[in-house]
Amino acid sequence: MPDSTEMSESSIFICESSQIEEGGRGVRFPLTAAGEDAIGFVVRFEQEVRGYLNRCAHVPMELDWNQGEFFEASGLYLMCATHGALYEPDTGKCAGGPCRGGSLKQIKVIEKEQKIFWQPDDFFRPVIA
Ligand code: FES
Repeated sequence: MPDSTEMSESSIFICESSQIEEGGRGVRFPLTAAGEDAIGFVVRFEQEVRGYLNRCAHVPMELDWNQGEFFEASGLYLMCATHGALYEPDTGKCAGGPCRGGSLKQIKVIEKEQKIFWQPDDFFRPVIA
């Protein structure tokens, strides 16, 4: 686990564990961020599931030009397709490009019994249908 988040009644299912492979395509999911509709995503890096808000720290745009494609060719960094910002997959910190000093905003994720969930908090809330 990327942190010590435990499952709770408010944990929300994202996808099956088998849907995200190491360094492969991510899975997007809807949420609200500070009350605004937004998209989160999960990817797998160093065997752990990592969850982030799909919003570049440089300009608030989604990272994946092709939906679900977050890793650049080497599989070592997450990349914003628009102007090439690179982020560390394990911390979300900017590793190069125009995001200088910025970070992706982490979403708490939990992997349990071959399923992946996210955990709402004060900032990230579920979308009300
Ligand atoms: S919008 Fe992401 S690198 Fe510019």
